[in-house]
Amino acid sequence: THQWRGIIEEYRDRLPVSDTTPVVTLREGGTPLVPAQVLSERTGCEVHLKVEGANPTGSFKDRGMTVAISKAKEAGAKAVICASTGNTSASAAAYAVRAGMVSAVLVPQGKIALGKMGQALVHGAKILQVDGNFDDCLTLARALSENYPVALVNSVNPARIEGQKTASFEIVDMLGDAPDIHILPVGNAGNITAYWKGYKEYAADGVATRTPRMWGFQASGSAPIVRGEVVKDPSTIATAIRIGNPASWKYALAARDESGGVIDEVTDREILRAYRLLAAQEGVFVEPASAASVAGLLKAAEQGKVDPGQKIVCTVTGNGLKDPDWAVAGAPQPVTVPVDAATAAERLGLA
Ligand code: F0G
Repeated sequence: THQWRGIIEEYRDRLPVSDTTPVVTLREGGTPLVPAQVLSERTGCEVHLKVEGANPTGSFKDRGMTVAISKAKEAGAKAVICASTGNTSASAAAYAVRAGMVSAVLVPQGKIALGKMGQALVHGAKILQVDGNFDDCLTLARALSENYPVALVNSVNPARIEGQKTASFEIVDMLGDAPDIHILPVGNAGNITAYWKGYKEYAADGVATRTPRMWGFQASGSAPIVRGEVVKDPSTIATAIRIGNPASWKYALAARDESGGVIDEVTDREILRAYRLLAAQEGVFVEPASAASVAGLLKAAEQGKVDPGQKIVCTVTGNGLKDPDWAVAGAPQPVTVPVDAATAAERLGLA
């Protein structure tokens, strides 16, 4: 009978809702903060993983979407629209169902993971594949929301940021204070903006005694913030963060500079190495983009930039089941055996 109620009810006094706001929720948030044993050993730090793939649609987007869709419903919207590399569209589609609204999603053609496409389809979203990248999709979504009766639920909608900041609250509530360093993957830069806002609010109200340094990592082929210029044709295997012109660019810089943090890049090879380490050594299966945070931690540690003894939280943003191709690729095919215990034992190396 004591179930987590979703982020709006759990953090109502810190969110832009009133008694008359219809709460559209799938009981998102309340995700595990998992001690990472191998990463802690490697870095000499106390490393935790905030496992956002445990949200109802499998990513952190649900935190923002419960607020964005509740506010859209309160305002009388009948339809919502978003541009997406996949997770936002899956989340928008699911929450629109709960709200009795129509969802429209714009995705870059051929560049979203199959699991995410399946989610948008099964939740009944109207999907357009755009002949362009995520940045083009967002331009189109903004234009449509300005000219037609449809509410934009990308992270340029402030309600999204408000919802996503609750992840910082949960971390401080669990650890008793803010960590020394918080590490995130960066794509459109909404999430690093939201986490920083959450940490600042808790510190301002004395719930936490301090704020962490914010470390963000982009994929090398899609690293406009690191380069200081728009990337026209972004590329990376981490399709969720294949973004060349982040909407929250200036807020990401503010999070970096105000917190004394960094925004750096990791290569696809480093992302995949972290992806495999998380699954094979920590027992946490994430999608490739999510592993950028951990790849960044390992890179910084190898460069001697991580002093031992610190408390570090890495957000892993999405579930591995979203994009299982990378789990299967390069792995040995399982062998087939007859229904025979002796043969099975031998093949399993038990005999
Ligand atoms: N990790 C995952 C799994 C994501 O889906 C995203 C963004 C990010 C990290 C980066 O977060 O954009 O706030 O910096 N996905 C968006 C989408 C763009 O459409 O699903 P960000």
